[in-house]
Amino acid sequence: MNPQSANGFWLNDSFIEFNGNLNMTLLDFLRYSQNLRGTKIGCREGDCGACVVIQGKFSNGNIKYQQIVSCLTPMGNVIGTHILTIEGINLPNQLTLPQKSLMETGGTQCGFCTVGFIISLTAYCMNANEFNRENAIKAIDGNICRCTGYKSIIRAIDIINSKLQEIDLNHRLEQLVQANVIPISVIKVAKQMERISPPSTNSNASTVVGGGTDLFVMKRLEMLDKDARYILPLSMSEEKIIERDGNIVVHGSTTVTEFVESPLIQQTIPNIKKIAKLISSTPIRNIATIAGNFVNASPIGDLSILFLALDAVLEIKGQEGIRQVPLKDFFLQYRKVDLKKNETIQYVSFKKKNPWHLNFEKISKRTHLDIASVNSAMSLEIEGDTIKEIHLSVGGVKEIPLYLSRTNQFLAGKKIDQNTIIQALEQIQNEIKPISDIRGNELYKRSLASNLFISHLMELSVLDDKNQIVQIIPQSIKISEIHHSRQANGGKANA
Ligand SMILES: Cc1cc2nc3c(=O)[nH]c(=O)nc-3n(C[C@H](O)[C@H](O)[C@H](O)COP(=O)(O)OP(=O)(O)OC[C@H]3O[C@@H](n4cnc5c(N)ncnc54)[C@H](O)[C@@H]3O)c2cc1C
Ligand code: FES
Ligand code: FES
Repeated sequence: MNPQSANGFWLNDSFIEFNGNLNMTLLDFLRYSQNLRGTKIGCREGDCGACVVIQGKFSNGNIKYQQIVSCLTPMGNVIGTHILTIEGINLPNQLTLPQKSLMETGGTQCGFCTVGFIISLTAYCMNANEFNRENAIKAIDGNICRCTGYKSIIRAIDIINSKLQEIDLNHRLEQLVQANVIPISVIKVAKQMERISPPSTNSNASTVVGGGTDLFVMKRLEMLDKDARYILPLSMSEEKIIERDGNIVVHGSTTVTEFVESPLIQQTIPNIKKIAKLISSTPIRNIATIAGNFVNASPIGDLSILFLALDAVLEIKGQEGIRQVPLKDFFLQYRKVDLKKNETIQYVSFKKKNPWHLNFEKISKRTHLDIASVNSAMSLEIEGDTIKEIHLSVGGVKEIPLYLSRTNQFLAGKKIDQNTIIQALEQIQNEIKPISDIRGNELYKRSLASNLFISHLMELSVLDDKNQIVQIIPQSIKISEIHHSRQANGGKANA
């Protein structure tokens, strides 16, 4: 056993020296190299949760254990961490608390999903700040069960929570051993974790891998032949989100979970947790990076839309040095971005405000874990009844995530009244160019783009200098009338 080994990691209670292909998925490694068949293969696209395992890694000096999808996690992102599978969770002579609770409530029927649920619920016990139904349900938002109808799983959650109320979170792992949630071997490994090094990968390799949640859905087999550069583990020891010269600076390899859980981000974007609930699922957010979402350049990329409304700027590093690119100029054409070969997004930064008045909306067929038909974000700063600064972005209405430059320009400095809003709706309609596709026809998307702008206005309220809430839309404006006149006009803005 050599915890100093260049490419090594802990798997349950054993240290593994890994000299294989770093682009192999963890799921394949577990099942076909280690014969650990408890972790199931379902969709291989991050959607079903059959393959989830727990990953422990250092974050701000502490080990954090959280659930990840093994089907999209390459071995390059496993090196230097601790992986727990169902085989490593099992207790020698009895069921664990999540296992027993699911069994007692009929929370398992065909059983195919059960390992995934046990893993996610165990990760919840290892991770939650508070043991309650809401947090536990969030922890299983990436797990699908086709048999139980979920009610029995929720009853199991209630049993788990009732047994954990007295836990002292300062000695969590020890107490979880006492409560039969995890075996003692987890603590033994956790104590040795600091000694594992991150992987040595080729720093000149052309393919940058973040969390792999896009790359390993689209190119899993192709990746096996690629020379890849892993940026997620290398940045494990860095402070990823800092305040510098009045800006919030976020490392490109920051995961969605790291971003949402950062106290600095929560202070500056107070509704960030509510926003994040609409983005993928817990096991995806735990690995998906912010820069990966930008480079993926999906016209409906949620983080791209969100950061456009933060007026974010990218710091891109390449062989010729470092350059700054506003995010609104980064998207060139469909899935084409302003990034040269060998360039990496090092940081994304945006102005520090106390706080940002930011709203995010996403319209999709399901509320959670779905792709948007149209999404939109808007930040707003007003002075009196005049707009001082505004950044509105909309996704799904053009071939790129769209920053509405002309609408934003039109609105800046304008008094907020009915006339301004009607003219802004007209600007929005002129600036977007949606196409009819599987997620909705052109008219539907046009209508959504306008309606989401109205939703932003309704959601965003501001504090005045006496800390009184001031509704930014004066009472005299009848939003419903604007809606109705637009609908009567076939969704066109010039009502
Ligand atoms: C089940 C599932 C649900 C999802 N739900 C959502 C959702 O709700 N909303 C949403 O917006 N997206 C969603 N996604 C898409 C995906 O999770 C995001 O786009 C994610 O942010 C991609 O990040 P990553 O680190 O995993 O990217 P990767 O797959 O690692 O990389 C994606 C691309 O970015 C490049 N890249 C990564 N990091 C850098 C960098 N620092 N510099 C330069 N290039 C880089 C890679 O080379 C690659 O071309 C979902 C994906 C899955 C599988
Ligand atoms: S196999 Fe479905 S999420 Fe991994
Ligand atoms: S018990 Fe059959 S899928 Fe959940």
